[in-house]
Amino acid sequence: MEQYGYGMIGLGTMGSNLVLNMSDKGFAVAGYDKKTVQVESLNSLSEGRRIKAFDTIEEFVSSLSSPRIIMLLVPAGPIVDAVVFELKSLLSEHDLIIDCGNSHFSDTQKRTEKLLQEGLHFMGIGISGGETGARFGASIMPGGDKTAYARIGPMLEAIAAKVNDHPCVAYMGTGAAGHYVKMVHNGIEYAIMQLISETYHLLKKYAGLSDTELHNVYEKWNKGKLKSFLVEITSAIFLQEEENSKEKIINFISDTAHQKGTGAWMSKDAMDIQQPIPSIDAAVSQRAISSMKIQRIAAENLVPKKDALFTGNKMDYIDQLEDALYFATVIAYTQGLSMLNQASVVHKYNINIATVASVWRGGCIIRAAILEDIRAVYESEPDLQNLLLSKLFSEKLQKLKNPLKIIVTSGIQNNIPLPAFGATIAYYDSYHCGWLPANLLQAQRDFFGAHTYERLDKPGIFHTNWNQTIQ
Ligand code: 6PG
Repeated sequence: MEQYGYGMIGLGTMGSNLVLNMSDKGFAVAGYDKKTVQVESLNSLSEGRRIKAFDTIEEFVSSLSSPRIIMLLVPAGPIVDAVVFELKSLLSEHDLIIDCGNSHFSDTQKRTEKLLQEGLHFMGIGISGGETGARFGASIMPGGDKTAYARIGPMLEAIAAKVNDHPCVAYMGTGAAGHYVKMVHNGIEYAIMQLISETYHLLKKYAGLSDTELHNVYEKWNKGKLKSFLVEITSAIFLQEEENSKEKIINFISDTAHQKGTGAWMSKDAMDIQQPIPSIDAAVSQRAISSMKIQRIAAENLVPKKDALFTGNKMDYIDQLEDALYFATVIAYTQGLSMLNQASVVHKYNINIATVASVWRGGCIIRAAILEDIRAVYESEPDLQNLLLSKLFSEKLQKLKNPLKIIVTSGIQNNIPLPAFGATIAYYDSYHCGWLPANLLQAQRDFFGAHTYERLDKPGIFHTNWNQTIQ
């Protein structure tokens, strides 16, 4: 019986595309899925390839050469535990299970520790790039046991996207570092998508651009400093026609966004480790507000508003919007990477931020030209706490602050909600404020709860007997 070097459990589109990608690069891969249709579908593509799909887990496991390497591409959550449980009794010491889904980092940490006690290796790997990335080159974020990584590194390098011949994969760090980095990737993805949507709102409702004009704006932006996958697909979206019609499909799509949860996971952990990521929080909240369509319509009917149209120089306004989007995109990466820096300390991951930026340059959803500048900054200053403390980004953003202010003001004045842009400017101004009114917060805490405070003029902890009586 033919022996395969790698196994894949979960032969949906992502799983089977990864198998085909691995096979293109010369690896022999066995697959397993409970659904016969997925098994048949992969086997129908096996001509001339060393791949075979099985519909029993026993046959699948015994087709793998030892020590076995088994990748999982199944939905995150209890299904991962169920598959691992089913597998365990069939595996031997030193076999390696790799979870390639979007699992929560705390689950990955628990699974890694538990399976190690049972003599098995477990790794969490973040994979970004959707179906196309899986098939032709993804951005891959592996974390966990470094000796286990040595066994799969060359294969991952072969199937990863390439930027200037460099594979978009690297060891991210210990424990659940891979899934943590992927979660941060997704949080940044939420923020950038929200920011682009806010520019769309302004361009459509305030500047009055048609779908074709919208396509042209994003296409032009994608040729400049905003060059990125998300701006590129945005430009393409405005061209897509409804089937059998000249109408654009975008105008038929309901304005209620869904989410699988990775953005919210990031916001929750940011609160836990006390790291400010307000642009990402705003993006998560805005998806929730968008889903309250019935309430939004009822509220709009209570307070009807008149849409005002922009009357100035449209080309100038569009240029200012481009600067503002660049500014806010830098801030989204800034917040995400600063949080990652701190999380690496808190969770003891030992993550190198320049390596993360390098892996994100190709294959993933947030790939963008700007990541090369970010990578270079972190490479020259590995201990940098925040991109805004780098000379390059400090100078760049200082020059672009005025356009951002003009854009945010235009939204406020015309009742166009810009939560992510608003969070951006508040974050930037707070970060650049040597004095914040937090002394008043401390006084209030001490007033009502004797929580104490520190002083500017001498060290120590102080409490005041506030002598004002409040009824
Ligand atoms: C990627 C994507 C991928 C997925 C998101 C969607 O990197 O390839 O991020 O992981 O499309 O998880 O997330 P939401 O459903 O939460 O928008």
